[in-house]
Amino acid sequence: MEKCALVTGSSSGLGLEISKYLLEAGYTVFGGSRSGTELEHENFYDVELDITSEDSVVEFFETVREFTPTFDLVVNNAGICEMSSISDTTLEQFENHLATNTLGPFLLFKYLESFLIKNETHIISILSTAAHYGYPNVGAYNASKFGQLGLIESLKKEWKEHKIRFTNLFPGAINTPLWDKVGTKFSRDKMLGLTEFMSVFSFIVTAPSTIQFPELTFLHKEGFLE
Ligand SMILES: NC(=O)c1ccc[n+]([C@@H]2O[C@H](COP(=O)([O-])OP(=O)(O)OC[C@H]3O[C@@H](n4cnc5c(N)ncnc54)[C@H](OP(=O)(O)O)[C@@H]3O)[C@@H](O)[C@H]2O)c1
Repeated sequence: MEKCALVTGSSSGLGLEISKYLLEAGYTVFGGSRSGTELEHENFYDVELDITSEDSVVEFFETVREFTPTFDLVVNNAGICEMSSISDTTLEQFENHLATNTLGPFLLFKYLESFLIKNETHIISILSTAAHYGYPNVGAYNASKFGQLGLIESLKKEWKEHKIRFTNLFPGAINTPLWDKVGTKFSRDKMLGLTEFMSVFSFIVTAPSTIQFPELTFLHKEGFLE
């Protein structure tokens, strides 16, 4: 069988672009999202997934297990971002960020272990510069991404025996539909384009498997870190 990849958040933005790229590269791709995608390819499996729901994550893995016992590549990508000051953020908004960006990856990893290939599986997480730096008006997003990073750092140590690779990506702003929903006035000219993001992603995926990239921060040259 061809190499198998799991991509969460495959219905839009980075996840959709990553899925297309991996299909082109010969992977069989299992994409998970709530809304699904119009992407049609004989090696693409569009599987319903609400990463905030344990039942949904369990069902997702039961479905994919009918087609593959293992994953060579896992792209932990699904996420949400809304902007508001801490004073204006509702408890529900904050909880939604934690449920999607922190508990979601927890549920993904909780049920992933039996799909790992010793010495082989590569887990790429799309974090954000917001997992390292605090920005104003994204407190819920910041907290959820810092939390996700802590989860992954702990997991790396727990799964040391598997000798797999973890790559944590910390991109700055990228011009995806995420920003349509956020609705800020940030200039899209100072964001990375999808092509630029994919040039970094493809470099990492195609690098020899003897190389590890524990952390990579990258952003538009006129973007900002703090
Ligand atoms: N765009 C940026 O500037 C930027 C910068 C740094 C990091 N990131 C990170 O990159 C990742 C992708 O962002 P994007 O820009 O591609 O955003 P996007 O276009 O809004 O896509 C987000 C994806 O996440 C999925 N998702 C959201 N909630 C979900 C849930 N409960 N269950 C399953 N899937 C869910 C969405 O699918 P459904 O809605 O169909 O479920 C969608 O496919 C996120 O983790 C984001 O934090 C983005």
